[in-house]
Amino acid sequence: MKATKITNPSIKSIQLENKYGAHNYHPLPVVLNKGKGVFVWDVEGKKYYDFLSAYSAVNQGHCHPKIINSLKDQAETLTLTSRAFYNDKLGEYEKFITSFFGFDKVLPMNTGAEAVETAIKLCRKYAYEKKGIAQEQAQIIVCENNFHGRTTTIISFSNDEDARKNFGPYTPGFIKIPYDDIDALKSAIKNTKNVVGFLVEPIQGEAGVYVPQEGYLQKAKEICKQNEVLFIADEVQTGIARTGKLLAVDHENVKPDILILGKALSGGAYPVSAVLANDHIMEVIKPGQHGSTFGGNPLAAAVAIAALEVVQEEKLAENAEKLGKVFRKELTEFSKNNDLVKLVRGKGLLNAIVINDSEDSSTAWDICIKLRDNGLLAKPTHGNIIRFAPPLVITEIQLNDCISIIKKTFLEF
Ligand SMILES: Cc1ncc(COP(=O)(O)O)c(C=O)c1O
Repeated sequence: MKATKITNPSIKSIQLENKYGAHNYHPLPVVLNKGKGVFVWDVEGKKYYDFLSAYSAVNQGHCHPKIINSLKDQAETLTLTSRAFYNDKLGEYEKFITSFFGFDKVLPMNTGAEAVETAIKLCRKYAYEKKGIAQEQAQIIVCENNFHGRTTTIISFSNDEDARKNFGPYTPGFIKIPYDDIDALKSAIKNTKNVVGFLVEPIQGEAGVYVPQEGYLQKAKEICKQNEVLFIADEVQTGIARTGKLLAVDHENVKPDILILGKALSGGAYPVSAVLANDHIMEVIKPGQHGSTFGGNPLAAAVAIAALEVVQEEKLAENAEKLGKVFRKELTEFSKNNDLVKLVRGKGLLNAIVINDSEDSSTAWDICIKLRDNGLLAKPTHGNIIRFAPPLVITEIQLNDCISIIKKTFLEF
């Protein structure tokens, strides 16, 4: 395949973003204007496999007809009432999503970071009102190399310098421990007064698809339970079929006390996020104590119902589980004879290739440029790690085509 030429329409769009937009992202140089299923097209008409899926928001595939029809129907009927009034979609959605994931109640928000903030507030309020923790003393344990979003509170407990530096003063009340380390969790709970929650990603996506040891989540949940610490699972990226189960915690039969969802909750059609918990936790939130103008709007509710139905009807978790195994097997086999590929890891269709080069090298980025030229879009996560996360509607034939593109690209490099 010929190298992608950055031509006029692309250049124009890139220049506009560069001139008029804040430079808070560093996109791969490709300008997209259409998406369907596993494919996206650039403004010059070139077709690509999308292996980022908008950071796992487009699990159901681009512009899924059922989701788009639901969006269109609702957009022509009623989009926003605010929560000052009831609307006829929200209750229906709340019943649907709570029974889908097995919780008593949901608190609807819009973005992933907002949902994480919501979970933190919920956990703290529960601690003061139900556990009798002294005011301002609640502590939440988080993990090193976490990624939970970019609000002021969330970056306060990040150890990514780019996300944190010069954004202080930081929000107190968080203790950081190494990820995938049960002993560290035990001693943090034992040695710190007033631990009320443990906020964890079941797989650290942004950190480079870091999969913890088998049993970690189950043991962590058990320790939390013994110590009356709320287990808060951030499944914004790992949830909704991405890792081969509806939730990544399902691999270890763990039920979080608080579940955070976002991204694929709308299949990429609209910002929809949610926090789920049972009554004894959720009931601490009273009118006026939390909310958002757009959270729980009828458009979001209609889209999210359709998006979750697609996951179920099209058996996306099963597909991710099956094809994820094919992906890892093929590329692990390939890595044995390719010096560039250090490691292939992941679960379901959330996978990463660790490149055999220093963390600050540009090799992963350069490979992503070559992948783009060969018709597949992926993006480095951290330094030398490339994440591969196609829409879960991908077929085995398409996946095999993609595996060939990836192998060919590594061989060309
Ligand atoms: C695990 C996790 N939590 C939270 C977020 C933040 O979501 P949003 O970008 O919608 O605020 C992300 C985004 O990548 C994420 O991966």
